[in-house]
Order: sequence, then structure tokens, then C-alpha cells
Amino acid sequence: MTKILIATDKPFAPIAVKGIRKVIEEAGFELVLLENYTSPNDFISAIADVDAVIIRSDKADKAVIDAAKNLKIIIRAGAGYDNIDLQAATEKGICAMNTPGQNSNAVAELALGLMVYHARNFFNGKSGFELKDKKLGIHAYGYVGKNVARIAHGFGMKIFAFDPFISKDEIEKDGVTAVASAEELYSTCNYISLHIPANSQTKQSINYTLLSKMPSPAVLVNTARAEVIQEADLLKLFADRKDFSYLSDVEPTNKAEFEATYKGRYFFTPKKMGAQTEEANINAGIGAARQIVNFLKNGDRTFQVNK
Ligand code: 3PG
Repeated sequence: MTKILIATDKPFAPIAVKGIRKVIEEAGFELVLLENYTSPNDFISAIADVDAVIIRSDKADKAVIDAAKNLKIIIRAGAGYDNIDLQAATEKGICAMNTPGQNSNAVAELALGLMVYHARNFFNGKSGFELKDKKLGIHAYGYVGKNVARIAHGFGMKIFAFDPFISKDEIEKDGVTAVASAEELYSTCNYISLHIPANSQTKQSINYTLLSKMPSPAVLVNTARAEVIQEADLLKLFADRKDFSYLSDVEPTNKAEFEATYKGRYFFTPKKMGAQTEEANINAGIGAARQIVNFLKNGDRTFQVNK
């Protein structure tokens, strides 16, 4: 029987797993569940004989892909597929897909939630400030960026965006000011919300030169990827500018240095929480299951990322 594996070290909500199971079993396939696994070897063993796999931020590196003897499709239930070794997948003729847009509202809500939490002094009882009329810069205007703009409009923020791949008209029809460069965005806005993917162009690209352009007070919100930040530069900026804060859904590797010296100017979720809502799990998980069924039964390659 055709086997579909869900391999998630951070499990989907039970209601999403139930929905995924329904889609898989109605298609006549068998669902295999590997949740909360602690060693990559567990993933390597589980993937050996399956035809398809659904993952989240789980690392599908060459070792994992090479261990998959029957694999035809790997789906990242979510947006960023930097955790998949695409070259290894392509070499083995495995189709890799993501589920664009399916968890974007959840991530956007968290980005604004982090801003509120910080603006109210992490709820410590002291007077904070409001987001209304503050300038927000959205760095990359994809599904998440668009949702951030929609929610930030409700807060009455002044919204700017930079995305070299999206036209000015497309951005401005949402009531957002499109700027011509990242430099312009960072020079204009007190808040920057990062929504760039992690790839060879963007890794380590958020550096001192860019961040130091932000007007005071400056708040960087990262619900994207830790790898896009040049962490040594960020720490240098923290040392140079007391007005600078960093809120992130992904812990930096040098978290201890922030904790030792910069209390009150940072917040890191202990576990990546952006997409961790029932709704996002249902949308991305069931979307992934449907994409697998469509691919295996009809050869549908919509959303393939390793073309
Ligand atoms: C994504 O790329 O879709 C988000 O970062 C969510 O990741 P997660 O599925 O591991 O929560």
C-alpha cells in the first residue's frame, strides 16, 4: 500500500492530523505518524519505505533523502523550504513542494503580537507605548508580509514595504507605501518586520550597515529565519544603541549574550511558534495531504519548488 509519512518534531494540532488522515485514507493510502522524534535517525528509519512525506521545519538533508528508497514527493507544510536539500531531492527525481500562504496569517498575527508585547514592556506594569502612527517597514511583501500589513492597518500604523520581486502597484493597492530599496525601508521605519526567505542571497544579509540606519527607537521583528541576521552585527548594534530592540520567533545562536547584557530589549520565543495555530496546522497540513494525493494520482506538480 502507498505510504504517506508525517514527520514532525513539532507536531501539528490533533485536529489537523485527523484531517490529514482523512484525506490520505480516503485516497486509499496509509498514514504513518512520526511525531516528537528526538534523533534524526528516527526520521531516517521512518522515511525508508514511504512514498511521500510531510514535514515542517524538520531537516530533510541528504542523509534523510538518500535513506528514502521509495520516496516520490516531499512536502514542506509551510512556506520556507530551506530545510530541504533540494539538490539531493532533484538528483533522486523526488518532487519537493511547499504550501504557500497556508500558515501566513498565523505568522503575521505573531509578528504584531510581539510588537504589542514589547511596546507594553512585556506586561511588567510600567507605562508602555502604542503602535498607532508608528512607522512599520515590511521587508518582503509575500503572503506573510501582506497579512502583517492588513493587521497593522487596524493598529493605525504607517506602513512601508520593500520587495524587489513585487511591483509597486501590487504593494500600494493595499494602502502600503512601496520603497525602492532595503536601505530606504530601514532608514524610514522604527519597526522592521522580516519576511524574507533564507537562501544564498539573504543569509546574513541583515547586517550592521542596514540596521544602523533605523531611526530611534528601533525594533527589529524576526518571524522569518535566524540565518538571515548577521548576529555579531546585531550584538554590536545592541552595544552601540540603547534604543534598539530585537523580537524574534527564532532564538539566536548567541542568546546567552543577550540574556547577560541586554535585559528588557529582546524577546525570543522558546520554540518556533509563528505557524503553531490550529488553523495554520489545518490549512498547511491538509493542503499538503491534498497536494500529495493530487501528485500521486494525477501528476499535479503545482507548488513544486525544485523545477
Ligand atoms: C514556515 O516556513 O512555514 C514557517 O517558518 C513555519 O514553520 P513551522 O511549520 O516549523 O512552524
